[in-house]
Amino acid sequence: MLDQEAPDPQFLWFIAEVKKRLNLDLSGYKPHRVKRRTDMLLRKYNVGSYQEYMKLMMADEKKTEEFLDKMTINVTEFFRNPEKWEAIKRTYLPGLMKQSSRIKIWSAGCSSGEEPYSVGILLEELRAPASASVLATDIDAGVLQKAKIGVYDERAFVSTSEDVLRRYFRKVDEIFYEVLQNVKNRVQFRNHNMLQDPFEKNLDMIICRNVVIYFEAETKNVLYQNFVDSLRVGGILFVGSTERIFNYRSLNLKVLEPFFYQKEGSV
Ligand SMILES: C[S@@+](CC[C@H](N)C(=O)[O-])C[C@H]1O[C@@H](n2cnc3c(N)ncnc32)[C@H](O)[C@@H]1O
Repeated sequence: MLDQEAPDPQFLWFIAEVKKRLNLDLSGYKPHRVKRRTDMLLRKYNVGSYQEYMKLMMADEKKTEEFLDKMTINVTEFFRNPEKWEAIKRTYLPGLMKQSSRIKIWSAGCSSGEEPYSVGILLEELRAPASASVLATDIDAGVLQKAKIGVYDERAFVSTSEDVLRRYFRKVDEIFYEVLQNVKNRVQFRNHNMLQDPFEKNLDMIICRNVVIYFEAETKNVLYQNFVDSLRVGGILFVGSTERIFNYRSLNLKVLEPFFYQKEGSV
């Protein structure tokens, strides 16, 4: 249920309509957050009810996009939290590459592509075989379209070194840079809802950062269990810098360092 203390029937109606009409199931998302963000939009358009707001959205595609954007927030950048990416480059990717040449990494909730392309760049840096690839998924078709194009403005590069920018991007103009084709070739983008669609198996690494913060505790637990089931033994789960998995032991994970977990078991 969306609001356990005082379920607002109008809001529950709205959530059911969102699921039916926009194909977005918000039941696993934190209810207060969903309501707060929706109410902000009601105020913005000066409408007095969820019904009225739904009517507005149905009449205007841009308003629907705005609503979906507000619910799923797409903020991201290349090499977000750079010290963690340094550890991936120095320790975790080389370790995985020693175990197999066909490594597959999943960036779940990849937004506009900065995260999976960061992995692609590191695979190039480490001269990984062409079979080493990145699956990048998101629920939001709009950001995936941007991701496939692979053109970014300077805001995406606050954590990117000049050297990497020069070697893996083509300057389009004064503001925009495009990811080079060799990096693009490593990444496959796909529309996927991690709360309802099936997961691939036998993955070497799963990166899911700054997504589960929107989910309720129970949803998060099920999701982490599904991630573990998708990893091969020895595979690594990399989470966001404000996200900790407290029940990691019962999930058969061990902590490598904060925000990096490894699936245990005999290889
Ligand atoms: C804040 S961005 C995080 C991007 C990137 N992982 C990072 O940390 O920089 C969150 C992304 O999660 C996506 N998302 C939210 N709910 C999702 C779901 N149920 N399934 C897949 N992606 C989802 C959003 O569309 C958004 O692009």
